[in-house]
Amino acid sequence: MSTPIRVAITGAGGQIGYALLFRIASGALFGPDRPVALQLLEITPALPSLGGTIMELEDCAFPLLTEVKASDKAEVAFADADWVILVGGLPRKDGMSRADLIRANGPIFTGQGKAINEAAGPNVRVVTVANPCNTNCLIAKSHAPKVPADRWFAMTMLDQNRATAQIAKKAGVPVSSVKKVTIWGNHSDTQYPDYKNAEIAGVPAPKVLREDSWFTETFIPTVAKRGGAVIKARGASSAASAANAAIDTVANLYHPTPTDEWFSTAVVSDGSYGIPSGLIYSFPLQSRGDAAWSIVPNVPIDDDARKRLDASAAELISERDAVKDLLGPAL
Ligand code: NAD
Ligand code: LMR
Repeated sequence: MSTPIRVAITGAGGQIGYALLFRIASGALFGPDRPVALQLLEITPALPSLGGTIMELEDCAFPLLTEVKASDKAEVAFADADWVILVGGLPRKDGMSRADLIRANGPIFTGQGKAINEAAGPNVRVVTVANPCNTNCLIAKSHAPKVPADRWFAMTMLDQNRATAQIAKKAGVPVSSVKKVTIWGNHSDTQYPDYKNAEIAGVPAPKVLREDSWFTETFIPTVAKRGGAVIKARGASSAASAANAAIDTVANLYHPTPTDEWFSTAVVSDGSYGIPSGLIYSFPLQSRGDAAWSIVPNVPIDDDARKRLDASAAELISERDAVKDLLGPAL
């Protein structure tokens, strides 16, 4: 067997953690030939219940799972990690915006950024899920000068999956026919789910659906506010779909992207599409494999889309301003 890929997961004892660990252990991330080792971080009071989840992992007898360790110390959980998935933090409650979590969750990412810098493996990739995920990613990155900018990601794949599903439902086609859906910007209500460049069976989505008002009045708000709708209905924030999107994010980065497809993830802006450099902003990406990614160039942006892209960038700037005191030297 080849060497295991080391995946560190924070908040492993929470809702998303419970939906995530078993799928990673089963081989859903790196394929059926690649063993994995899980390195789980929780706060001290959650370790006993995480112990029960670890018993269940053992009871699955996953052939690819070579090792599971749990700790309440970030340096231990992140040691030699190839991937770190930052899930740990408070979820929002009904009526809150994701940005309302910024002062509660932001401080978690100063220490975890430092621990990634000190302890993670030389090729570590970091995916932030905990909200507000773009700005938490920025905080962690700012404390990890040794980890290059192209290794940091925040999750907007759940938004992309939501958008893809809504378009497929409206068009009455299988989800697999819908491609090139982009989420631009922040994982928040200001995100822009770009339907204009999306394709249904290779044809631009607006040409198939021919109903601009559906896109602007129903589709965009449904996708942007779906997290809140799930919280209202379930009494808890999305967990299985979030874990699924975290799997998709890592898998999309790890495996080469087919040439006629792309996927959305927030990365450190290099100024592409006029988005201020350094913001953690969601773009359309393609991967050459092993997380060597690039932003898809020349996606058409009209005046309406431009305004939406800029509004989400402005929101990210104000989130960054709100956590100025938490930012480290490596912005
Ligand atoms: P949860 O409350 O069920 O689990 C969170 C876990 O994090 C808990 O077990 C808690 O003990 C742990 N935790 C708290 N502080 C920690 C720390 N400092 N170190 C390690 N672990 C810590 O919440 P959940 O439903 O699993 O959601 C987790 C986060 O993911 C929330 O912030 C939520 O808003 C976010 N989320 C993001 C997306 C997205 O699309 N980006 C989707 C869904 C949820
Ligand atoms: C989601 O999009 O479901 C998550 O970010 C949870 C939330 O607070 O909306």
